[in-house]
Amino acid sequence: MSETTKPAPTFATRNAADPAFWDERFEQGFTPWDQGGVPEEFRQFIESRALCRTLVPGCGNGWEAAWLFERGWPVTAIDFSPQAVASAWRTLGPAGAVVQQGDFFAFTPQQACELIYERAFLCALPPAMRADYAARVAQLLPPGGLLAGYFYLGENRGGPPFAMPAEELEALLAPGFERLEDRSSAAPLPVFQGQERWQVWRRRG
Ligand SMILES: C[S@@+](CC[C@H](N)C(=O)[O-])C[C@H]1O[C@@H](n2cnc3c(N)ncnc32)[C@H](O)[C@@H]1O
Repeated sequence: MSETTKPAPTFATRNAADPAFWDERFEQGFTPWDQGGVPEEFRQFIESRALCRTLVPGCGNGWEAAWLFERGWPVTAIDFSPQAVASAWRTLGPAGAVVQQGDFFAFTPQQACELIYERAFLCALPPAMRADYAARVAQLLPPGGLLAGYFYLGENRGGPPFAMPAEELEALLAPGFERLEDRSSAAPLPVFQGQERWQVWRRRG
């Protein structure tokens, strides 16, 4: 059957807080959020910095984590969906060693991380979990630590991906973090409708 006549996938699970939701989508190869490579703003950001211990939560296929690993960065990438982890291992070859199964809200890195990379993870969480996300990133990063990546901003019209008004992100992160960078993503994926922004936040002391 050609791509054009392929029926739309159907899914049994609707709760994005359940790993089974993501398992189904990875099993069926339905991953419209997956860039299949390393986005430009992230590449430039990393190339301008010294190595630092990095955590990639909700990594999916983990392209960026594999790229960091190949550059010699100390990186750990986690995903709570067994099928996402299996997909990353199949996709990344030896660099897949940096990907492990874990729930961001329960996982503690062996060594404290200094950078958390965000891509399509916060917007994958049901909105009721956003405060827990902000608390967890603040807990995991020391003063001066960075939360950097892509944030899907706009009116919330359901999801995932769940867009978030810019003021809500500000209210969520500003108590614990100072924003250092904020610009449109140069090459947004269609699923994010041009509303992804590259931002860097520094943990307050
Ligand atoms: C939209 S996908 C994004 C994957 C990847 N960051 C990317 O950009 O391709 C969201 C991912 O977050 C994972 N996820 C959701 N909640 C999680 C949690 N509490 N802990 C770890 N991973 C989680 C899902 O299994 C899924 O692979």
